[in-house]
Amino acid sequence: MTYSDTIGVMDSGVGGLTILKELVQVLPSSKFIYFGDTANLPYGCRSKEEILFFNKNILNFFLTLGVKDVVIACNTTSALTYEDLEKEFSPKGLRIFPLIQSIAHDAAEGLKSGDCICVLSTAATAKSGKYASEIKKVNPDLKVVEIPCPGFTEIVENRLYGAKESYIAIEDRMKIALENKAKRIILGCTHYPYLLDLLSEFAPREIFFNPSKSLAKSVSKVIKNTNDKGDVDFYITKDPDEFKNSAKMFFEINKEVKCIKMPEFSRV
Ligand code: DGL
Repeated sequence: MTYSDTIGVMDSGVGGLTILKELVQVLPSSKFIYFGDTANLPYGCRSKEEILFFNKNILNFFLTLGVKDVVIACNTTSALTYEDLEKEFSPKGLRIFPLIQSIAHDAAEGLKSGDCICVLSTAATAKSGKYASEIKKVNPDLKVVEIPCPGFTEIVENRLYGAKESYIAIEDRMKIALENKAKRIILGCTHYPYLLDLLSEFAPREIFFNPSKSLAKSVSKVIKNTNDKGDVDFYITKDPDEFKNSAKMFFEINKEVKCIKMPEFSRV
C-alpha cells in the first residue's frame, strides 16, 4: 500500500493495538501503519533520552513513507517526549495526536471534587506526573494517585497471564488503588487493557477506564473518513511471530508483519 494518506500509530509493542482497534472502528476507510518498537520495549523503565531517540527514529521512518498524521498510542511517549516531538516534527509537516493530553477530560468526567482517580502506568509515566497535571487542568480538586506498575508490560508481551508472579504483582498494585478508595482506575498504559480480566478480580470492571475510545474519538473529530478501503500494515523491530501471538487478544493479524532494523541507542 502507498502511505501518503496513511495514519501512523506507534507504541513500544502490542499495547498500541488497543488504540488501533478503536481507530479502525471510527475510521473504517482509513489506511493505517502500525509501528511496534519491540526491540526496545519496555519503554517504561527507560530514560527520556532513550525514549526520545527511539521516538524520533520512528517519526522519521513515518516521514520517509509520506505519513502526515501520527497517533501516539503510548502513554510513556505522550508523558515524556510529546512536547519535544511536536516541536521538531510539526514544522516538518507531521500532525501528532498525543494520548494523555487528548483523553484527560473524558477520564475525569462524572467525578466530583475530592474523588480519587488512580492511574496504573509504567514507572516512567508515573514519575512524570503527567496524568495528574492533565487531569488537574480539568478539575483541580480531584485526587490523582499515580501507581507505577513495573513488569506489567512484560506480562502482556510474554503472555504470562496465568503465572503466579503476575497475579501477585497485580494484587500488590491494586492494593494501593483500593487503599486510596479509587472511584476510577485509569489503564494508563496501552498494554493494560490486555490485563483487564486479571485486574477486575480485585475491583469491579466498571471502575476501570480504558482511554482508547476517547483517543479514537478525538482523532476522528479531526481526520475524516474517506471513500477508500481501510487497511493496516504492521512494522516492528523484533520477533514478528511473537508479536502476532501477543497481539491476538486485540488484533488477529493475517498478513505479513514486517521486521525492520532501526539505529541502536548509544550514549556518547
Ligand atoms: N504501551 C506503552 C504505554 O502506554 C509502553 C509500555 C512499555 O513499553 O513499557 O506506556
